[in-house]
Amino acid sequence: MKTFVTKNCPVDLLPFEKSTPALIEEQVAQSLREGCDEPFLICNLGDVIQKYKRWVQLLPRVKPFYAVKCNDDLAVLKVLADCGANFDCASKNEIQKVLSLDINADRIIYANPCKQASMLKYAAKHDVEMMTFDNEAELHKVKALYPQAKLVLRILPPSNFKVQCELGIKFGCHPSKALPLLQTAQALGLNVMGVSFHVGSGCAEAGAFDVAIQQARQVFDLAVEMGFDMSLLDIGGGYPGTDNAPITFSEIAEVINVALDKYFPEDSNIEVIAEPGRYMIASAITIGVNIIAKRIVARDQHGENGELMDAPTMSDEPAIMYYVNDGVYGSFNCVLFDHQVVSACSLKSSKDEMTYESSIWGPTCDGIDCIMQTVQLPMHDVGEWFYFEDMGAYTVSAASTFNGMDGPARKYYYCLQSDWQQKLPQPVKAAVGIPIKKVPAMKTGHSLKDTYLSSSLIEDQSSSFNESIMFGDLEWVQN
Ligand SMILES: Cc1ncc(COP(=O)(O)O)c(C=O)c1O
Repeated sequence: MKTFVTKNCPVDLLPFEKSTPALIEEQVAQSLREGCDEPFLICNLGDVIQKYKRWVQLLPRVKPFYAVKCNDDLAVLKVLADCGANFDCASKNEIQKVLSLDINADRIIYANPCKQASMLKYAAKHDVEMMTFDNEAELHKVKALYPQAKLVLRILPPSNFKVQCELGIKFGCHPSKALPLLQTAQALGLNVMGVSFHVGSGCAEAGAFDVAIQQARQVFDLAVEMGFDMSLLDIGGGYPGTDNAPITFSEIAEVINVALDKYFPEDSNIEVIAEPGRYMIASAITIGVNIIAKRIVARDQHGENGELMDAPTMSDEPAIMYYVNDGVYGSFNCVLFDHQVVSACSLKSSKDEMTYESSIWGPTCDGIDCIMQTVQLPMHDVGEWFYFEDMGAYTVSAASTFNGMDGPARKYYYCLQSDWQQKLPQPVKAAVGIPIKKVPAMKTGHSLKDTYLSSSLIEDQSSSFNESIMFGDLEWVQN
């Protein structure tokens, strides 16, 4: 059975779970039928739905604003929107993309502390009010272009915790420098309403959140003392997206819940939001790449960094260099920029077959374009395929077309039927300042735009949130 997640984007609804290798085999078989050797990706929208659900279960007080930069795929955005997620946008294009899905501007935070003036004007024009800042020049810019903005002061988190990608070298006002910044905001008559931080992407130590939340409380108190009407805490991103991460999401959630109860107890009526990126999408996407060329070299001809040595060696043990059609200038930019360690999978079982020391290279003419310097793999021929799991975060969204090479243009979306049904809107608390709205109702079998919930249905929703209820709007088409 198929449905559509957006107008032109079909989703295969699976009655039973299928393994990733089985799905990859199907895509490979289809590629063969079509005579197509382009890379492809498969996206499990059910994984995204399950991640969202788990977030709501484990962090019930924290409303997720998905970080669009992590993966701006329209289908993923739509599914998250339908689940009830809000969005963290970094630019005009991201805002435009989110708004194109009929998502209210109140569900967006413009979480880039250094905004291009024209993009800030665009935000103003489209009523994207919530935005972060961490420096004085930004305050003057906001005063000139969008004085009604709802400002969130981004503070520098502690730097002594392990993270995959540090962000504090570029963003965040040291808590000790918050006072002069708040004074400037006050002098300019601006509306500071919250504090945010980002502990760093791929946080490996939950304690980072505890310390950062405590520091945020101090800055909060300072702002309240100065007379600002503070109503929002934004605990940023940093949550793990895969099972093999150094820390689990539930370990982090536990620490956050305790810290929130201590520093921002529920009765303080502070809205708590977060900006998860990696968490929502990392594990949902698998990329298939075609082996476009291959060289067999003596094993010792490789130097320590994978480069070929000049002189032939005594070893006759082969090492195989595979060249595939996506690389570090494409989806695998995550190897360079996101410090990801990717793992190649083969449709051949390494249990049954002899394996060889191998390396995997991207398609461009640049020597840096190496995806894996060393991996044991069964022997493959040109034309066969490898696949890489956990390729959803900071991959396709940061890919270039260097050397005229496109990334995976072919996309296959699938979802377990039972997961898809769970996507049906969950009651979510509206973002800060959103007025209570009438919202589209939900039924299967026809487009539901323009129909509205009856008040009895609203009463039926068992929700811990009683200020307002919002539902995603969903089109359900059965073939
Ligand atoms: C401002 C901001 N928010 C959220 C995120 C998402 O972080 P993560 O993917 O670690 O959750 C990022 C990532 O760079 C970011 O810069």
